[in-house]
Amino acid sequence: MDLKIKDKVAFITGSSSGIGYATAKVLLNEGVKVYINGKDKKKLSESTEKLKESLPGSEVYGVHGDFLQENQVDELINKLPEIDILINNVGIYKSQSFFKTKIDDWMDPFQVNFMSGVRLSKHILPSMLSKNWGRIIFISSECAYLVPEDMIPYSVTKASMHALSKGLANLTKGSGVTVNTIVPGSTLSEGAEDFLTSLSEKDNIPVEEVKKRFFENVRTSSLINRFANMNEVATTIAYLSSPLSSATNGSVIKVEGGSTSGLI
Ligand SMILES: NC(=O)c1ccc[n+]([C@@H]2O[C@H](COP(=O)([O-])OP(=O)(O)OC[C@H]3O[C@@H](n4cnc5c(N)ncnc54)[C@H](OP(=O)(O)O)[C@@H]3O)[C@@H](O)[C@H]2O)c1
Repeated sequence: MDLKIKDKVAFITGSSSGIGYATAKVLLNEGVKVYINGKDKKKLSESTEKLKESLPGSEVYGVHGDFLQENQVDELINKLPEIDILINNVGIYKSQSFFKTKIDDWMDPFQVNFMSGVRLSKHILPSMLSKNWGRIIFISSECAYLVPEDMIPYSVTKASMHALSKGLANLTKGSGVTVNTIVPGSTLSEGAEDFLTSLSEKDNIPVEEVKKRFFENVRTSSLINRFANMNEVATTIAYLSSPLSSATNGSVIKVEGGSTSGLI
């Protein structure tokens, strides 16, 4: 499908693996110039090379920066060219009891999941508005709705992101810029695979059984009753990145397999 985004310039946070990496692949296939990011320099450069090799002729660049480190975020912002498509994808989480959370357990996910989007949007949105075209996409989570009791700080960062996204969309009134939020459900990224493997090792049960039990006992509201694959999320992100989605602004698009109940 031609998404009509050839030669646009995209920046995807947290994209040296996982959903962000899968999105980079889809955008590169559409002829977009893509800047990927990660905090591990070696992994970032390997992922950049892997994308170049798998898609010869594609323009992909690595921009290092850990969103937990303010000075690194400043450096990263200074290195970015003019961006047409900003995908605020980076996200961290921890499974822990609310009663054991420390201040940092709240501040770290806020810094990475939420403030990264604030800082980048503040820098990039003005140029999008002045050229009258741009896309900002926030990657939320089904946890914004389900709020698992062991992931309250993570869920709060994602729910806050919805208000931020809506507020920024309000600033685009009458322009060709859109700001939207995508809500993935449980998706088999490398990060999710690592989490499931740690549960499998902790409880001494095969990882395939952990996945099955997750939908039997935890994510019982899922309608697809399985993990999504990364491409299922990446293609929706790519669609919202394109002019084909030009009448969608200030919206929340779910790719959560029906796990969140209710009509909205
Ligand atoms: N997977 C799911 O089930 C799921 C469900 C709902 C929502 N989401 C959301 O979707 C987004 C992507 O999730 P994912 O599962 O693809 O994540 P992931 O596999 O954990 O993503 C890893 C990527 O994020 C980078 N990263 C992590 N911490 C970083 C930091 N402080 N600064 C810069 N980069 C950092 C990693 O780079 P390094 O390796 O260098 O750290 C890597 O490129 C997140 O916002 C997540 O909350 C995921």
